[in-house]
Amino acid sequence: MKILVTAALPYANGPLHLGHIRSTYLPADIYARYQRLAGNEVLYVCATDEHGTPIVAGAEKQQKTPKEFVDYYHKKDAEEFAALGFSFDIFHRTSSKENKEMTQYFFKRLNDAGHIYTKEVELPYCSHDKRFLPDRFIVGTCPHCKAEKQYSDYCENCGKTLSAGEILNPVCITCGKKPVHRISKHYFFKLASFSDKLHKYLSENKNLQSDVTNYVLNWVKDGLVDWDISRDLEWGVPVPGEKDMVFYVWFDAPIGYVSSTKALTKKWEEFWKKDSQIVHFIGKDIVYHHFLFWPAMLMGVGDGFRAPDKMAVRGYLNLEGRKFSKSKNWFVSIEDFLASYPPDYLRYYQTAFTPHSTVDADFVWKDFQSRINNELVANVGNYVNRALVLVQKMEGGSVPRPEGLDEMDQKMLGEIAIAREKVAVLIDGFKLKEGQEEIFSLSSEFNKYLSDKSPWKEKDAQKNANTLYVCIRGISALSILLEPYLPFSAQKMQQMLCIGKEQVKWANAEVEIVMPGTKLGEVKPLYVKVSDEQIAKEEEKLRGNSDAQKKLEGKN
Ligand code: 2FM
Ligand code: ZN
Repeated sequence: MKILVTAALPYANGPLHLGHIRSTYLPADIYARYQRLAGNEVLYVCATDEHGTPIVAGAEKQQKTPKEFVDYYHKKDAEEFAALGFSFDIFHRTSSKENKEMTQYFFKRLNDAGHIYTKEVELPYCSHDKRFLPDRFIVGTCPHCKAEKQYSDYCENCGKTLSAGEILNPVCITCGKKPVHRISKHYFFKLASFSDKLHKYLSENKNLQSDVTNYVLNWVKDGLVDWDISRDLEWGVPVPGEKDMVFYVWFDAPIGYVSSTKALTKKWEEFWKKDSQIVHFIGKDIVYHHFLFWPAMLMGVGDGFRAPDKMAVRGYLNLEGRKFSKSKNWFVSIEDFLASYPPDYLRYYQTAFTPHSTVDADFVWKDFQSRINNELVANVGNYVNRALVLVQKMEGGSVPRPEGLDEMDQKMLGEIAIAREKVAVLIDGFKLKEGQEEIFSLSSEFNKYLSDKSPWKEKDAQKNANTLYVCIRGISALSILLEPYLPFSAQKMQQMLCIGKEQVKWANAEVEIVMPGTKLGEVKPLYVKVSDEQIAKEEEKLRGNSDAQKKLEGKN
């Protein structure tokens, strides 16, 4: 089957942090890697989201052009994602030629089909800076929770999306002056006219999480409002035939999924229009855009496009009980994390506390340490090392030849096939945490088996050969089952067992792919423990940074 997997496109306006990874890129990567191993034709597509006022404002702050600004973060994101092992088939950009063309094509088709109209609207304008002030160009007081210094399109404090004109006491973000009002012609997408179709799509698609569709259906019931898809800005995809007017970033961003697929392969239409599965991974803050705007756009554009088949939605990640905040310095960047720990530590830990739902989770350094040391190192790390060291000591480093396997040996081989099947069902249903747990319980059974058999005490050489042969089969299976979750560890195991890339297939988990007589590669421990000193340093750094920031703010 063809499967198109996407992960929400990150804004190219700041460093990635641990929270981004947990909700979106990691689950999507595990899913995509598994589907490839299972023999499906998978494209895992992502890109940087490079338009919108956060980008323009961020660039202005650094006295760069928007282009220079997004170039920097596109490259940085691409490097960090690669370091985390994310297996994108393409990591493209929404400022690309392909995305400009695809966005204008969507617009033209929607317009020709009567789904777009223009209307004059009164919008905030800064007479000092001589420009309109959409979205993040204005700060003010949230009309709902009264939090100050909020952007005009979204309140960080209460999480509500705001429409133009709602914010109280608005001021221009650049000069701090009060805006005036000016009339401008804007383009609107008739979202409200898709209410019935969206209702049907959301209520009939059993692949969508019901905790999400339930509240989205309430939004539909409350009445959808037509959507302003143009902005008076220079940076963005130009609206054809207009001057200094571009599409709203949320119009061209999801189209980035399509244009990036097109940039990747000539077969892109087979993934978007034919018998394939379109699977989006997103965080819960962008449900509105993916469950309403995007399917409506796809329904409206016609031309064979289909609405997404599956959407996996995850909650937010907190850091030691508080929200991640770059400005408050309550933050652990991917760059800092990877300077001290291997990528699989982050992959393991984040999957371990991320269920298939929108509940939030907490990254806690001490918890990280205990899970890595007591689970990753003590279970898989310990088992693999123990077994391979024994093969070196007792079998001269070669995979022993089995003969007359006993009941216990046979049972362990059977456990592999059972686990392989269970994990497949779990990953297919997005239950990635449970899948990882299942693999770890297989590893722990093998660990116990090895202890029960105690080849170091047993005198019968053939019995010991059998035990260690079965242990090798266990490691070979783990190296395949863990590949979606912990690709770096899996690769190390495969190197030690001399497993070739072409043998790494899901169905091979229970197959004898490491033949008796194979000489092991160099045996090295997979992991090292996280020390108390490391954790104390992380905690101190976090609190120190945040205190320094508070002092700085106090002085201003
Ligand atoms: O919320 C965000 O970070 C957006 N940049 C996500 C865009 S996802 C997609 F639709 F392109
Ligand atoms: Zn101004």
